[in-house]
Amino acid sequence: MIIGGPASQLLAGRVAAILGQELALCDYKTFPDGESYTQVVTPLDDEIVIIQSTPTDQDLVFLLQLLDVCQGKKISLVIPYFGYARQDKIFKPGEPMTARAVATALNPFLKNGRVFLVNIHAPSIMSHFQCETKNLDATPLLAERIGSMKLHDPVVISPDKGAVAMAKTAASCLDAACDYLQKTRLSGTEVSMAPKEIEVIGRDVVIFDDMIATGGTMATAITLLRQQGARKVYLAAVHPVLTGSAVLKLYRSGVEAVLACDTLDKGVSTVSVAPLIAKAIKG
Ligand code: R5P
Repeated sequence: MIIGGPASQLLAGRVAAILGQELALCDYKTFPDGESYTQVVTPLDDEIVIIQSTPTDQDLVFLLQLLDVCQGKKISLVIPYFGYARQDKIFKPGEPMTARAVATALNPFLKNGRVFLVNIHAPSIMSHFQCETKNLDATPLLAERIGSMKLHDPVVISPDKGAVAMAKTAASCLDAACDYLQKTRLSGTEVSMAPKEIEVIGRDVVIFDDMIATGGTMATAITLLRQQGARKVYLAAVHPVLTGSAVLKLYRSGVEAVLACDTLDKGVSTVSVAPLIAKAIKG
């Protein structure tokens, strides 16, 4: 049985369809005081797959409620987008390692279970789970879609060193060249990028990253690459967090198209990770 949390209903439906498994009927509400309410209406099987991204604090509470409902069952937990993944270290004294705190809160429900993440921002987060944990890579799915678009002499670029491995995987799937930019984060919304000579004149560029949040990183990279003579600039990201006016920023910067996965259900989520998740669940 597949249980789709409120942040992952469409993805859960797609996974259930691929696996031919029942999709549980659930009810999610918010009380007037802001507290969350969850009910799994369908009687539970002994083996349960819960699929719920946690882009907001409320989504994390819904996930805890689902795990509590499923206590005693064999649980496979899929967190396609794991919120707080960028708080993977203690950067300043007195700060929590929030990604660890989230895993610690989930662990008691997963004694007999397993966890699947998708392109987790920092793989070190997996070590905070006390059960079998796998990090699934959606890069080949994005690359496959890009490949079908027949781009002109494409080059794959990572906007910072953190996404170089992803860009390399994509470049090898596309049989294209690969390079990276040097990003410095100035604030939560602003970044700067050192100019770097990359052979982009007259070529189509695809910038790969694990996530687009405020869009600041991608907008800065698009502007730089277009100034350097790129023909068309495409974005490929696994997690379209897209806060505030991120989409406007990207299109104002001159992006040709944004491709993202359905780890978060947004208008740009045109590449589904359902086959990847279904395959991992089957083992
Ligand atoms: C950072 O290390 C991540 O890989 C992304 O580059 C970053 O989170 C994107 O954030 P934003 O869209 O706010 O620049």
